Formats: sequence, structure tokens, C-alpha cells
Amino acid sequence: MHQDVESIMFSKEQLQTRIAELAAQLDSEYAGKTPLMVGILKGSVMFYADLLRAMTIPVEMDFMAISSYGAGSKSSGEVKLIKDLDRKIEGRDVIVVEDIIDSGYTLSYLKRMLYSRKPSSVKICALLDKYSRRVVPIEADYKGFDCEDEFVIGFGLDYAERYRNLPYIGILKRSVYEK
Ligand code: IMP
Ligand code: MG
Repeated sequence: MHQDVESIMFSKEQLQTRIAELAAQLDSEYAGKTPLMVGILKGSVMFYADLLRAMTIPVEMDFMAISSYGAGSKSSGEVKLIKDLDRKIEGRDVIVVEDIIDSGYTLSYLKRMLYSRKPSSVKICALLDKYSRRVVPIEADYKGFDCEDEFVIGFGLDYAERYRNLPYIGILKRSVYEK
């Protein structure tokens, strides 16, 4: 375990088992369709890559980058679009793949923006749900795990751009960000 990790919340194996279940659920609910999988950079990359590889229906890939955090561990409520989609989504079934829902600011901003482009549907697939921290009422349509109110890192999630490559999700030691 990394020295900055307090404890492991979800192991590599737990993540893969749950991702396989989510992929099977998406396969059956989107059977006969070709959903556009929108990965939210950069936090969702590991989840996105594993989820899509576990799916068997045809999918298309696109990405958006949004920032709501800056470098700290608390959300500011300010959301900024850094990279938009490459293609139009009118008439498409869009599945937004996100690492974690915290305050909900990011996804509510995103959902509003995507809906204005007249897709056929927009669903949210989030690996983690920090439900107790919600400020804006928004729910994931598909979710991996509920997550306690702890700052977590790994499997794409960062603290100040670090730890994204840890293969598990762990709780970051408070001493790292309460200096
Ligand atoms: P929201 O807009 O507050 O829902 O924030 C969502 C974004 O904040 C996520 O996409 C993450 O990038 C980041 N975030 C929220 N909680 C955590 C955490 O515990 N660890 C790392 N990033 C987090
Ligand atoms: Mg982040």
C-alpha cells in the first residue's frame, strides 16, 4: 500500500467485479443501441477503460474535461468546461461516465449542457457516490459503490494530480492535505 494511503476502500478485485456487473447491466439495457460513452477527464479514465472493455454491445467514445476543484480537496461550486465533445450528440443515447459524485455541481452543470443539445437520452454512470455531501439534487442512473465522506484517491482519482495510477481506491491520509 502507498505510504499516503490510510486504508483501502475498494480493492482492485472489488472494482473489477463491480465494473463487470455494471457492464452487463448496460449491455442489456442498451441492447440494439450504440450508446455514446462520454468519459469525464481525467478522473474517469481507469473506470472508463475497464467498463468499456467489459461491455459487449457497440459503443462510441468521446471525452469532456471539466474542472470544479482546482488543486484542493474541497469543491468550489465553480464549474469550468476545459474540453468539449468532438461530435454532435443530437439524437444519441449518451452515457456520462464519471469517477465520483460529490456536491453534484459538476454533473448537474454537465447534464444541463448536454440536454440542450437534444440527445435522445442522457444517463449518468458513476463509479462512486458520496451521497452525504450532495448540495445539488442529482443521482447516478448507474453506480458502482456508495462512498463514505472521506477524501479518496486512486483508480483515476487524484489529490493535486497525484495518485491517479494507484490500482485501488484508498482513503488519503489527512496529514497529506491538512498541513
Ligand atoms: P462535484 O462537482 O462536487 O460533484 O465533484 C465531482 C468531482 O470532484 C469529481 O469528478 C472529482 O474529480 C472530484 N472529487 C470529489 N470527491 C473526490 C475525492 O474524494 N477524491 C478525489 N476527487 C474527488
Ligand atoms: Mg479531480
